[in-house]
Amino acid sequence: MNLKQVSLALALTACVSAQGQRVMDVNTKKLGATVQPTMYGQFFEDINFAADGGLYGELVKNRSFEFAQPYMGWRVFGNVELKTDGPFERCPHYVILSSPGHRERRTGLQNEGFFGIGVEKDKEYRFSVWAKAPKGNSQIRVQLINEQAMYEHQEFTEAKIDINSNEWKKYTVMLKSSRTEPKANLRIFLSSGNPVCLEHISLFPKDTYKGRENGLRKDLAEALADMKPGVFRFPGGCIVEGTTLDTRYQWKNTIGPVENRPINRNRWEDTFDYRYFADYYQSYGLGFFEFFQLCEDMGAEPLPVLSVGLACQFQNGEDAHAKMDELQPFIDDCLDLIDFANGDPATSKWAKIRADMGHPEPFNMKFIGVGNEQWDTPYYERLKPFVAAIRAKYPNIKIIGTSGPDSEGKMFDKGWVAMKAQKADLVDEHFYRNEQWFLSHGLRYESYDRKGPKVFAGEYACHGRGKKWNHFETSLYEAAFMTDLERNADIVQMATYAPLFAHVDGWQWRPDMIWYDNLRMFKSVSYYVQQMYAMNKGTNVLTLTTADPADPKGKKQVPVAGQEGMDGLFASSVWDAATGEVVIKVINTSKQERPISINLLGMKGEHAATTLTLSHNGSYDDENTLDNPEKITPKAGSAKAEDGKKNSVLNDQVPAMSFRLYRIKK
Ligand code: AHR
Repeated sequence: MNLKQVSLALALTACVSAQGQRVMDVNTKKLGATVQPTMYGQFFEDINFAADGGLYGELVKNRSFEFAQPYMGWRVFGNVELKTDGPFERCPHYVILSSPGHRERRTGLQNEGFFGIGVEKDKEYRFSVWAKAPKGNSQIRVQLINEQAMYEHQEFTEAKIDINSNEWKKYTVMLKSSRTEPKANLRIFLSSGNPVCLEHISLFPKDTYKGRENGLRKDLAEALADMKPGVFRFPGGCIVEGTTLDTRYQWKNTIGPVENRPINRNRWEDTFDYRYFADYYQSYGLGFFEFFQLCEDMGAEPLPVLSVGLACQFQNGEDAHAKMDELQPFIDDCLDLIDFANGDPATSKWAKIRADMGHPEPFNMKFIGVGNEQWDTPYYERLKPFVAAIRAKYPNIKIIGTSGPDSEGKMFDKGWVAMKAQKADLVDEHFYRNEQWFLSHGLRYESYDRKGPKVFAGEYACHGRGKKWNHFETSLYEAAFMTDLERNADIVQMATYAPLFAHVDGWQWRPDMIWYDNLRMFKSVSYYVQQMYAMNKGTNVLTLTTADPADPKGKKQVPVAGQEGMDGLFASSVWDAATGEVVIKVINTSKQERPISINLLGMKGEHAATTLTLSHNGSYDDENTLDNPEKITPKAGSAKAEDGKKNSVLNDQVPAMSFRLYRIKK
């Protein structure tokens, strides 16, 4: 052995016990940085049919005939005419159904929903329509049908509605489904001689999240709430920018009565020609009021992101953006939004709309993102007047800028310099990176400047090299990387995995956190990783270290972050003031079981511990699926801290490729 090898061997002895255990010290005597309540959250974007066809409960596609091709999603038959002088000025289209000209013929229309309409046996669905009978009383028949069925009748549920006024009125009927059908259609027949005008044809499950009429799909919203997110970023992502500025997400179009919210063309319609969805629009039925309400329901801080006047920089050149002297309407959007969320309905026009929608109390918005994933001078120069205007009017609102799409490098650094110069409160970083990146970035935030803005890891996910889908291994590496977020909670104040949702028939981007079809859903392993962190975030960081394998004297203490000599282990610890517990997270990314020994400095005697372990089910490629949604879930167990010579000691064997979390009462 040469001198260097001898030193390394000596150092290894200091951090590994005689029993070959990795020895770690958790200092429970001294509370470290506060872990912000916002630390682990969610990022919602309408990609992969996450809103219409996903979280938003509406089951009818193109309910107001406003798509560029007005009958997209519909099949019409008989005598159907499209009109444009409807009762809702921003959604002017409607149809008039008239006699087909023969009593043996039919007039009507049929909606395909979003990849079909999912209905369940014995559950109720609220059908509603705005209608008028221009030439005397008329009637429609509304059916849930299965076109593929070999039954005598395609329809399995039917109701009749009498339209008895020449004025536009809303008619509602409950349809109780006699069958479970994941891909039903909605069919409407004219069943009178007199014509009928129909507008905003809608079908919702009665049982939405919190039972709201314009509500959210219950299982998906509950999955969000079950994670106990601390912050909720919305509505995107690239849709904030738009393929063109006029198709950017515009929050003012998403509030007020749903019938009068103009639709928008989704930026994700055009992005990929290998998974192209020409019918991808935003009804805006899930709008900013609904987002704020969801945040309130879940106890998450709302974090809206607004356009900085840049259309998607990936998709456009300089000409596509608002010029510097054209930014005022964009700045007003930010100021008016704060007013909408927090203002007094007695004095503010925007707050009055919020109150009229049923929420006179403020939503208490504290954060605003200006620009999504923008980069370089076009962004930095545009951001300035936004910051000035927001600071002047709302000094307490925290402004979130962005370092762009790169996780490091020249443009990333340039972004940080610009955000520091503009005194952004937080900088939104994005990283969709491969396994190696996640495994080698366990000490990313240690070297960050503590005097500048805080970090919001706003979009990240481990994308497996050559296998870009959800699987256990990449989720485990996300968990490993997240120990660094936790360890550096003094600077990292928010983190949100991305994207959140994907419809199995309508996705363009993966991996994603929650997948679904029309009736079922599953939580990915990444969901459980996020949940384990979010529900065990504690209140203060505790120092967790081991002897530095590179220190010949074995005196220097370093974090356990997967660096050389750590045998693939990552670990972090927090104190939970609410329960009086020490929480320790250990991730073993190696293919072997790892014995560990944790000294609980400041604790004496024996202490019982509970554990939660997330492990694969035979293969690192394992993942939950619609058919096997609980293949991989965290499993509860127990452990014990013994009375050691100087302090309590927790000895354990951490299984190969697993994430184990301990809670120990002090
Ligand atoms: O999450 C998908 C996309 O990734 C987001 O819209 C964008 O911000 C990023 O490029």
